[in-house]
Amino acid sequence: MGFREYRIGSILFGVALSSSMMITIYFPGLDISSVSSTSIALEKQLTYGKNSSFDYGDPFVQGKDKPIKVLLKKDPITGATMDDTNAYVFKPGTSLPSGLVHEHIMGAKVQALSVSLGKTNQVDESKGGVFLVQSSVKDGVETPYIEFATATRGWTVEATLAAADQQMLAGSGKTMFVREGCWWCHTLLPEETHDWQSFGRPPVVGDFNGESPTTFGSDRKAPDLLHVGSRNSSKEWMMMHFFNPRLVQPHSIMPRYDYLWGETDKQGNKIDLAKWDEEFNAYREGTRVYPPEVPEYRDDTEIRMLIDFVLNLK
Ligand code: HEC
Repeated sequence: MGFREYRIGSILFGVALSSSMMITIYFPGLDISSVSSTSIALEKQLTYGKNSSFDYGDPFVQGKDKPIKVLLKKDPITGATMDDTNAYVFKPGTSLPSGLVHEHIMGAKVQALSVSLGKTNQVDESKGGVFLVQSSVKDGVETPYIEFATATRGWTVEATLAAADQQMLAGSGKTMFVREGCWWCHTLLPEETHDWQSFGRPPVVGDFNGESPTTFGSDRKAPDLLHVGSRNSSKEWMMMHFFNPRLVQPHSIMPRYDYLWGETDKQGNKIDLAKWDEEFNAYREGTRVYPPEVPEYRDDTEIRMLIDFVLNLK
């Protein structure tokens, strides 16, 4: 059997293989910087900070090196009351998100406004600062941009944290979401068809500029969580559900995350899991009327970060 018989076939195989490689190399699906970031993408950049996956900036994946999202009801400097405003606080040294480091990935219009109105070209990672998501009209189109409020309004990190009505560690919480493998069961991507009615609006392409990882999830065994904070905003429910999902959903297959509470509760008492289990089993068997209480968590715990992240998914 000689090569001659297979010559045409071999040539055609070579042509097919090399043209498919050419398509892959020269025709990428989408250049993200050709898409204008939506305000959702900018909020995510400022909430999550630098990549929230496993990286050297986040030793042992503890949710370190992340910004703090705060709710302001008054101007941190003048004290004047204002409408509820979300601000994003980067303490000195907190790594900046890729949208602030490589501004072109936000899209040309968003970049132009962020620099001209938002003064983001004055950001210095070693000094930190406070950011806002704003919007203005550019070339006739309503366009979101990032405002560096430390340069435009003099809002310092200390004054903003002191004036904050609420602090959310949602950026660190995303690290918990990735580390704990919530994405094995949950997606953050409502798909077409009736998903839209039960889980809300699907994301659009500009929602992801600069976000990595996206935590879309792949294969769903549990409800989509993209907008979970809009349908359930109860911290108490979340606390019970994460401590032991069977407390609120008797047949839930979701694992317990009681270890994210750490050793002690808010009052400083040791958390006794064995005793809790014993009481919970008695309740399930009907020999106890009420389920045991879920301990209140401390403000520096991983469960606080995770709950802040989940409630921030609006
Ligand atoms: C083994 C699969 C599994 C894993 C892993 C898992 N969950 Fe769940 N989760 C479920 C199921 C099933 C439900 C629905 C029943 C229930 O409420 O417990 C649920 C419900 C929820 C809800 C309520 C959803 C709603 O629509 O109100 C939240 C919030 C949630 N999970 C968050 C998380 C987070 C955060 C993690 C990671 C720390 C996680 N889950 C890990 C299976 C899982």
